[in-house]
Amino acid sequence: MNTLSNNAIQILKDRYLIKDKEGKLIETPEQMFRRVAKFVASCENEKSTFYERNFYSLISNLKFLPNSPTLINAGCKNGQLSACFALPITDSLDSIFTSLKNAALIHQSGGGTGFNFSKLRPKNDLVSSKSSTSSGPVAFMKIYDTATKYVKQGGKRRGANMGILNIDHPDIEEFISSKSNKKSIENFNISVGITDAFMNAVNNDLDWQLINPRTKKVVKTLAAQSLWKLIVKKAWRTGDPGLVFLDTINKSNPTPNLGRLETTNPCGEVPLLDYESCNLGSINLSKMIVYKANHYSIDWDTLSKTIHLAIRFLDNIITLNHYILPKIKAITTSNRKIGLGVMGWAELLILLEIPYTSKEALNLAEQLMKFIKTESYKASENLAKERGVFPEWKNSIHVHKTQMRNATCNSIAPTGTISVIADTSYSIEPLFALAYKRVGILNNQTQTEINKLFVKKMKQLSLWNLELENTVLKAGSIKNIDSISEAIKAIFKTSLEIPWQYHLLHQQAFQKYTDNAVSKTINLPRNTTKEDVSKIYKTAWEYKLKGITIYRYGSKSNQVLQKCHLN
Ligand code: CDP
Repeated sequence: MNTLSNNAIQILKDRYLIKDKEGKLIETPEQMFRRVAKFVASCENEKSTFYERNFYSLISNLKFLPNSPTLINAGCKNGQLSACFALPITDSLDSIFTSLKNAALIHQSGGGTGFNFSKLRPKNDLVSSKSSTSSGPVAFMKIYDTATKYVKQGGKRRGANMGILNIDHPDIEEFISSKSNKKSIENFNISVGITDAFMNAVNNDLDWQLINPRTKKVVKTLAAQSLWKLIVKKAWRTGDPGLVFLDTINKSNPTPNLGRLETTNPCGEVPLLDYESCNLGSINLSKMIVYKANHYSIDWDTLSKTIHLAIRFLDNIITLNHYILPKIKAITTSNRKIGLGVMGWAELLILLEIPYTSKEALNLAEQLMKFIKTESYKASENLAKERGVFPEWKNSIHVHKTQMRNATCNSIAPTGTISVIADTSYSIEPLFALAYKRVGILNNQTQTEINKLFVKKMKQLSLWNLELENTVLKAGSIKNIDSISEAIKAIFKTSLEIPWQYHLLHQQAFQKYTDNAVSKTINLPRNTTKEDVSKIYKTAWEYKLKGITIYRYGSKSNQVLQKCHLN
């Protein structure tokens, strides 16, 4: 087993290790990895001992970690192991409050939920009791938000939601502005559901129609650019709303016959059908290297083996999972979607001494993700031969190509907690700072940290001393330190020193070979302009990204999810 960092041990003790009724820890991290490995191998019949050993080695050496609910709940009674869910909302109180109840149950079990509110009739529309009028999607989102606040996920962390409203809904302006106030709807990430038709209307300065989903009648016509400007203004000010590109998402819907993809999970990395869930896992790229002849290179053989084992691990979870609702079980086991992604990309680049802001990094991102996708698909194909194709395979886009065990294989999640457990950088994000304060979500306590690879490199170059340590602790960066060469500065550039173009290019490079989606925050310096934000959002659509999230430094005090780790 790999040695764990102090931070990792702390997080495990706080939220992952099993406690008795008095709240006393009754599990060590090693026992947690054994519990998870044993459970995930328990469907392997006569090969279960073999796979238990292999899964244990995989996770305890921090080469791969599954999403948090699997680490927390595997092997426990009625263990719910998935991070991502989507629930339907149709235009009736019955549907609204049924999904609200189901969302509460999902949050309680550790999962996050995504919803598209666009089927709801707008505010002040007719309702059947003639004396009254409707409240509209934003009012119901507020109810969902309040419920989320009081159902802490599995008692361990704050619940998370994605709320989407499509760009042609009559309440879209209210929705776009709904998070202007720091405290409002704080347990939601919100995104506008964007279509290609709308982007063309913006680019050609055309009118845009808002349509009542109940009557299908046009209720308002306005300039597409005025809506665009409102989105940009609010996103510039608060980071919300993000965008989801619904047409792009649906072009790669693996099961279009089962319905259109209308929403994603909370951080955007998995588009899902109604009631569908997905489990995620991430390969720690900083462990996929070999040191030979004085330098590091990628260990493609280890990476390949890790991918094959990880796909098997994630597929087993679908078989072993405890499903909260029969409907969730039905669609999830029909499509068997999994999302294998990565963490530690920035650390891998640092080890290889490749600047994040370089063509070389982008080429490597494509090469790496292409490899991960190809091997993931091979692994899923092998599983199909061994265990059978996923039940809806005949109804899917894969039927013309290859047998598959899983409708999708790859997603790039934010890895907000598992990258801390693995002691590496988040997802495909650059380092946010070389030294920084981390604010605990639950206890609000701050800790300072200096990046270990940075300290190691400085020691190697005989540059490490107290003065440098103090400067870096204060500034978080080395950009103003004269004694450090430009080449070294380029390798250690932090998030806000990286032009937005490179943030987007990395997202594009990874998205190219990711069948689900890539969750990434485009972190921007405070002096970024609204024009920049507009360009970023347009470029995201042109690059065929499935969604986009920005965050301008200092623009919101209380941040949700992955952003809150970056304070
Ligand atoms: O690192 P960890 O496995 O805990 O999660 P992540 O990669 O940061 O987030 C993956 C997914 O878990 C998110 O997209 C959400 O669907 C879900 N999640 C959640 O429900 N609640 C949170 N507080 C964080 C994540």
